[in-house]
Amino acid sequence: MMHQLFPKASLSGWLIFQGCDASVLLDSTANNTAEKAAIPNLSLAGFDVIDEIKTQLEKTCPGVVSCADIVALAAKDSVSFQFKKSMWEVLTGRRDGTISRASEALANIPSPFFDFTTLKQAFANKTLTVQDLVVLSGAHTIGVGHCNFFSNRLYNFTGKGDADPTLNSTYAAILKMKCKSLSDNTTTVGMDPGSSLTFDNHYFTILKLKEGLFQSDAALLTNNGASNIVDEMLSPGNFFTEFGQSMMRMGAIGVLTGNSGEIRKKCSAVN
Ligand code: HEM
Ligand SMILES: *[C@@H]1O[C@H](CO)[C@@H](O)[C@H](O)[C@H]1NC(C)=O
Ligand SMILES: *[C@@H]1O[C@H](CO)[C@@H](O)[C@H](O)[C@H]1NC(C)=O
Ligand SMILES: *[C@@H]1O[C@H](CO)[C@@H](O)[C@H](O)[C@H]1NC(C)=O
Ligand SMILES: *[C@@H]1O[C@H](CO)[C@@H](O)[C@H](O)[C@H]1NC(C)=O
Ligand SMILES: *[C@@H]1O[C@H](CO)[C@@H](O)[C@H](O)[C@H]1NC(C)=O
Ligand SMILES: *[C@@H]1O[C@H](CO)[C@@H](O)[C@H](O)[C@H]1NC(C)=O
Repeated sequence: MMHQLFPKASLSGWLIFQGCDASVLLDSTANNTAEKAAIPNLSLAGFDVIDEIKTQLEKTCPGVVSCADIVALAAKDSVSFQFKKSMWEVLTGRRDGTISRASEALANIPSPFFDFTTLKQAFANKTLTVQDLVVLSGAHTIGVGHCNFFSNRLYNFTGKGDADPTLNSTYAAILKMKCKSLSDNTTTVGMDPGSSLTFDNHYFTILKLKEGLFQSDAALLTNNGASNIVDEMLSPGNFFTEFGQSMMRMGAIGVLTGNSGEIRKKCSAVN
């Protein structure tokens, strides 16, 4: 169950990246379009799982555990599950935000079309480093991407009907059989082909083969510092240690404490 959560939710990524106040879990209301509605309704499943955890918690321990903490703990557990031990420590005590705005969510989420400079800036805006950027991108060892996030690299990279020269041409041919046109926004492809259900460091191996799915993946090889970190992550031990460290840093972004925010009763609505 927990193992299924990570792939389904892009959880630890976006939900935490946007600030640890669980605002992304909120539904839209009559006068507010929530973040959930804005995020191209493509990958953010798993809300139901968070809601179910919250329901169980409220039965035994009402008003104590925030939705923001549930998300942070679920991310840790879904990665840790296969290792049968906790892969990093999650400090708790986050409170839930009361505002969820579509426009803010879109402004905060890095795009798969970003180049290295823009990715670096997006992470720096959240106090995350290039090390965090490279290491956390390793989360793309799990899950899938929709064709429309990378098919420009297959069919029309510079507007001349060309392919992205930094994408492995052998791999591009395989991708073209799956994503048959530029407009395909329904087909998905495993981001780490062959092991997209296993949390491992294989993402960095395929990255070196120029098989990173998004431009944002390939971008990590375009900067010397970042590329050196990619090489370091080819050792599984390094990756697992560093991933935990970076997840803890990401888990400290935008945390509400004290009298800020609230402990939501239901994760999809403010109290
Ligand atoms: C570096 C900037 C990043 C960009 C531009 C990016 C972009 C994307 C995109 C476009 C998808 C595919 C969504 C879809 O087609 O449904 C995706 C999936 C995913 N991302 Fe990222 N991502 C980034 C960083 C991260 C981070 C930091 C994490 C977690 C630590 C993460 C975890 C995931 C996971 C688990 C999926 C798979 C979702 C699924 O299978 O439904 N990503 N990402
Ligand atoms: C509309 O917004 C106001 C103030 O932001 C809030 O108090 C109210 O509950 C909202 N109404 C609905 C239906 O969401
Ligand atoms: C978008 O959301 C709807 C309603 O939650 C869901 O049925 C549908 O599968 C989602 N679409 C995609 C592409 O995930
Ligand atoms: C970083 O933050 C600055 C200032 O808020 C903003 O102008 C810029 O667009 C942000 N960059 C990215 C890539 O998010
Ligand atoms: C490729 O991009 C160019 C420039 O944006 C556009 O004019 C052309 O129609 C595109 N080709 C296809 C097949 O979409
Ligand atoms: C996918 O593309 C179709 C046709 O262009 C469009 O109507 C639909 O809204 C798109 N779906 C998503 C989830 O972007
Ligand atoms: C492209 O992928 C193939 C198959 O994985 C691999 O043998 C080859 O070395 C890759 N090419 C480059 C430039 O990495």
